[in-house]
Amino acid sequence: MRRAARFLFALLMGLAVLGTLGNLVLARTTRAWFEHDLTLRSQLAVASANKSLAESWSDSIKLTEVLDDMTRDERIMGAAACSPSQRRLASTKGFPAEFSCQSVLGQMAAEGSSRSYWSTTVDLPAGPVHVSVTATSDALGTVVLVHDLSFLGRRETTTRNILLIGFLVISLGISAVTLLGARFAWKGWTLALRRALSGESQGEFQPLLRDVRSLVDRLAREREGEARGGAWSAARLKATLSQHLQGERVVILANREPYVHEKDGAGGVKVLHPASGLVTALEPVMRACSGVWVAHGSGSADRQVVDAKDRVKVPPGEESYSVRRVWLSPEEEQGYYYGFSNEGLWPLCHLAHNRPVFRAEDWSHYKAVNQKFADAVCEEVDSDDPIVLVQDYHFALAPSMIRQRLPRATILSFFHIPWPNSERFGICPWREELIAGMLGSSILGFHTQQHCNNFIDSVDAFMESRIDRERNAVVQGGRATLVRAYPISIEWPVRWLADAPSIAECRSSVRKELGLAPDALLGVGIDRLDYTKGIEERLRAVDELLTRHPEFRGKFTFVQLAAPSRTKIVMYQELNERVEKVAAEVNAKWASGDYRPVVLLRAHHEPPTVFRYCRAAELCYVSSLHDGMNLVAKEFVAAHEDELGVLILSQFTGAARDLTEALIVNPYDLHQASDALATALRMPEAEQRERMQSMRRLVSEFNVYRWAGRMLVDAAELRRRERMTGRFSHS
Ligand code: F6P
Repeated sequence: MRRAARFLFALLMGLAVLGTLGNLVLARTTRAWFEHDLTLRSQLAVASANKSLAESWSDSIKLTEVLDDMTRDERIMGAAACSPSQRRLASTKGFPAEFSCQSVLGQMAAEGSSRSYWSTTVDLPAGPVHVSVTATSDALGTVVLVHDLSFLGRRETTTRNILLIGFLVISLGISAVTLLGARFAWKGWTLALRRALSGESQGEFQPLLRDVRSLVDRLAREREGEARGGAWSAARLKATLSQHLQGERVVILANREPYVHEKDGAGGVKVLHPASGLVTALEPVMRACSGVWVAHGSGSADRQVVDAKDRVKVPPGEESYSVRRVWLSPEEEQGYYYGFSNEGLWPLCHLAHNRPVFRAEDWSHYKAVNQKFADAVCEEVDSDDPIVLVQDYHFALAPSMIRQRLPRATILSFFHIPWPNSERFGICPWREELIAGMLGSSILGFHTQQHCNNFIDSVDAFMESRIDRERNAVVQGGRATLVRAYPISIEWPVRWLADAPSIAECRSSVRKELGLAPDALLGVGIDRLDYTKGIEERLRAVDELLTRHPEFRGKFTFVQLAAPSRTKIVMYQELNERVEKVAAEVNAKWASGDYRPVVLLRAHHEPPTVFRYCRAAELCYVSSLHDGMNLVAKEFVAAHEDELGVLILSQFTGAARDLTEALIVNPYDLHQASDALATALRMPEAEQRERMQSMRRLVSEFNVYRWAGRMLVDAAELRRRERMTGRFSHS
């Protein structure tokens, strides 16, 4: 309403200005028109009376009569006949006393007029008059006619009033029409929007609104869930599983087992926790949900501890779920694991500049081993519609193999590594088979939306299928695979931190272990020895730091915990040598006395040691050249209960999308990376705290229970829909 009033006011003001200007123009124009008109009339009057005037010119009485005739026109006030010597020969009664032949002809002469006609306008007290002098045709003299112009004022006023009223009426009409139009348009638009929002309309807003509605629903559900269930935890995940999926257990299929039994060399068996992001994330989920984890039995003592069905209860001492071990021959392991998975798919999916190697025999093993694991999964399920979580690139074919045997299974597949763009993926000789295998999944998860998009593009490029971009799904044979981003995380709270030594103890014990001064500045890197992790670039950045920031020489040490990985592969053996060489070079350049800038610990480290090093360090540098997520970054954040410490994180990790308060760097840019190291070492505690608090909040909230919970809730929704569809299509 206020807007309408403002609009009306502005309109009226505009009209007033326009009216005033118009009035002025109008007055001038009408006066000019009338004067011109009177001039013509005067000339006409004298011309038509010319004959009578000539006949009576010398007879003043007759002449007066002729003049009287001429003044019959109501607007002529008076007339006078003047001799060439400016003497009045005759005049009518109404001829104004203000004028005489002398005064009028004198003014005419003063203006230098030599024409036979002259006129002027004079304002008398009674009103304006038009005075004209017209010479008679045979030059006897002149006739002066005085026209009343006061009518002109009246006429001007009347005309002005009529025009003004008309103008006002038109303006008000236009305003009213404009306002009504605007109002109806707004009303119509809002009505349309309201109708669209309420679902009545079938118009062009529908796809957008469906997205908005589903987003709002989802957020509302999450909020509601958050309010009811509190933060995501093991207990809430378990409740979600039984509430939403009426399930008590899940079956996980992953190549790497969560607990590896190794001979300890003294006739005993030790249990190891493998260095694997996948295990870090999924083990807590499995403990919360219970069920079976189907994996490759890779430990030297694995066979010793399993039962007749190749199962072993874990975690040791807790025994809340089972590991079902699948045994592979050396040839199978070579072809499926080292060959196709890690010499083919791994370099194919990571932008780390190593060529993938595709061997037909590796592919045969990959297919056969996928079938072997799929069969093992089918043996472990306890219903015909189980929930199966298929993990990672080792098992791209397993989802469709499981689906063949268990068509009603809910299969949630998750790729822990990036998915390349379709052009890159297209170089794989078995690209169609791989995608077809993955499309056996009900839901296919990646860490980032970018990887989802890349996958969908690959489907688009190489498969016959329908892509439902609204639902982010691929539909084949009437069955949909949802493709979604679920950024993975770690458990919160981290169980290894429950009994961890204090941060002060970690700081001093680690420095002692490494032979460093108690006040030495420490940076840490924790990885499998893999060429995707950018370990060489990381050590070169340390070199650059000491070159460009001399204040840290002799004071800063970077310790790299590097777990040997995939050591049968030549590329990994070469990497191992290169990393060792770079570490030696940097040390040779900057070491002095007891001081070493780089400490390379090439060994498997159990989680308590990993967390002790994280807690001891001032900074952690994750320099991956390409990484699906990188959970070490999140573990470093979890380790720092003191809210101190700085994370330096490669922009090419999935984690960089979550942990934006880290110092984000391009690991190839050694200047930038070394400056980030310097910035971290100089960062005031207040700033460290601010960044760390924010990252800890994020990791605690977006923990791995939430990751699994969201996938399970989405799976439940899908199951519900499929059951409904099945019910309707059977009825
Ligand atoms: O994080 C990616 C990943 O391939 C995991 O899936 C895997 O468990 C981890 O790296 C370690 O690799 P590997 O199991 O080959 O030792």
